[in-house]
Amino acid sequence: MAEARGSALVVGASQGIGLGFVNQLLQDGRFQQIYGTYRQPDSAQGLLTLAERVPRLTPLAVDVTDEASLATAIGTIQGRTPQLHRVVYCVGWLHDGPLQPEKSLRQLDQAQLLRSFEVNTIGAGLVAKHCLPLLNHDQPSLLAALSAKIGSIGDNRLGGWYGYRASKAALNMLFKTAAIEYARKSPNTILALLHPGTTDTQLSQPFQRGVPPEKLFSVQRTVSQLMTVMDNLTPADSGEFFNWDGSRLPW
Ligand SMILES: NC(=O)c1ccc[n+]([C@@H]2O[C@H](COP(=O)([O-])OP(=O)(O)OC[C@H]3O[C@@H](n4cnc5c(N)ncnc54)[C@H](OP(=O)(O)O)[C@@H]3O)[C@@H](O)[C@H]2O)c1
Repeated sequence: MAEARGSALVVGASQGIGLGFVNQLLQDGRFQQIYGTYRQPDSAQGLLTLAERVPRLTPLAVDVTDEASLATAIGTIQGRTPQLHRVVYCVGWLHDGPLQPEKSLRQLDQAQLLRSFEVNTIGAGLVAKHCLPLLNHDQPSLLAALSAKIGSIGDNRLGGWYGYRASKAALNMLFKTAAIEYARKSPNTILALLHPGTTDTQLSQPFQRGVPPEKLFSVQRTVSQLMTVMDNLTPADSGEFFNWDGSRLPW
């Protein structure tokens, strides 16, 4: 992709894979302006400290469950740059204190299910909605969302993790649908759903026991692998679901 002096946005850049993307994009000669969103300063010290040192990194406060905060952030970007070349949705939620992935129907909880969908699914749809004008230009652009293999319906053999699985499956459908609309309205934009592989972040931390060391990726490794997948995508790949090694995953 020819993205000389391009601009990139990472949604969910406070920690984990999102912060890893910010670091990698800053070292990538193709991207001049980098925007990274955070929800709360407490967990975003790495991003905020980096932005104090690096003027071409702009942190923006966004809670994806509050559409107005996303619209305000996009307005700020539009005021500074007319185009985005790469947008990566790295927001995700799996567990929080007493709220853990459901092992059985008995554990289904309305508020927990709603939170999974608000954060993992709806936020990504709103990003696709609000970023369209910035991604629609005459250069190649890419909008990727971090999904999860566990959201594959065809691959579901173990059950459990109802909310996370269902919210990622719904994310996949939302992006597949958005890719069809983008092909009409913003034909130079590729949309992609990416499984990062099990990556050493706070999201996977309680579930890392039993994962062989060679299958537990560092954030840096995951980000490099996903950047390679993104760089190799063509317009024919838009709306598809990819593993970290670039292979297709079943819906
Ligand atoms: N790690 C893995 O093994 C793995 C495997 C498969 C898929 N994934 C997917 O990869 C993505 C990144 O995961 P990660 O491992 O980097 O997780 P992480 O370290 O927990 O990061 C999640 C990010 O989402 C943000 N976030 C959560 N709720 C939000 C909200 N309401 N509004 C805005 N931001 C919000 C978090 O912000 P705060 O800091 O404010 O909480 C944080 O920046 C997720 O979509 C996850 O489902 C991860």
